[in-house]
Amino acid sequence: MWPYPRIVAHRGGGKLAPENTIAAMRCGLNHGFRAVEFDVMLAKDGVPVVMHDTQLGRTIAGEGNIADFTSQELAAHDAGIWFGPSFEGEPVPTFEQVAAFCMQHGIWMNVEIKPVPGFEETTGWTVAQSVKHLFASQVDHRPAALPLLSSFSFEALQAAQLAAPEIPRGFLIDDVPADWHARLLDLGAIALHVNHQKLTPVLARAVKEAGFGLFCYTVNDPVRASLLLDWGVDGFCTDRIDLIGPDFATSRS
Ligand code: G3P
Ligand code: MG
Repeated sequence: MWPYPRIVAHRGGGKLAPENTIAAMRCGLNHGFRAVEFDVMLAKDGVPVVMHDTQLGRTIAGEGNIADFTSQELAAHDAGIWFGPSFEGEPVPTFEQVAAFCMQHGIWMNVEIKPVPGFEETTGWTVAQSVKHLFASQVDHRPAALPLLSSFSFEALQAAQLAAPEIPRGFLIDDVPADWHARLLDLGAIALHVNHQKLTPVLARAVKEAGFGLFCYTVNDPVRASLLLDWGVDGFCTDRIDLIGPDFATSRS
C-alpha cells in the first residue's frame, strides 16, 4: 500500500507561487498541502539548491549556468520577481533551507534529484547523504516519515542507493521502457513515477501487480486525476493546487 500522501503540490505551490522557493512551500501549506515535490541540483560549491532549470533566466534573475554559481551567490539572485512583484527578493533556497521549512511544518517531501548533466552521480550521492543526515534522528519509523527521492537519472538514483539505501527511491520516466520492471529492481526502487499522458490502464495494472507504487506527474485536470486514480494510480503531483486539493483522492464523488 502507498504509505505517502496521494496529492502532492508540484514545485511547492504549483502555479500559484514562484516555483521551488520557500514562498512556494508556504503557498502549498496555506492551501492545506502537507506534501510537496521540488527539484534539487548542485551549485558550484557542491551545495544542493532547489532549482528546476540548469540555467538562470526563466525563474532566476540573471544569466548563466547554475553550476557556475555558488549557493551563496545564487541566494543573492531573485527567484520571485519573474512571478510577480509581491515575490520580489525571494532567494534561491538551498535544499537544507527547504527541508528545514518542511520538517518544521510537517510537510512530506518528494525530492526530485535533477542533476546538471555530467554531475549525476555526485548529485545523487550528495542529496541522499543530506537527507540521511537530516533524518538521522528520526524516531518515527513509518515509511512515510522519510522523504521519497526520485529522478529521471538512473545514475543519480544508483548513487543515492549506495549513499543511503534506507531512503526510498522512485524512478521517474517519461516514455516507459519495456524493461521498467528490471530497472526498478536494479535501483531497489519502491515506485515508478510516470508522465500521466504516457500511462495506460494496462501499464498501471502491471506496475501495481508487480508490487510497486505508481505516481504520476503532473496532473492538472480533476477529471483526468479521477480517471488515473480509478486506474490504480497511488498518487500524483499537481500544479493546480487551487483545483485539486490535498484530500482529492478521498473526497471525490
Ligand atoms: O517529479 C515530477 C515532475 O516534477 C517531473 O518533471 O520537469 O516538472 O521536474 P519536472
Ligand atoms: Mg520536478
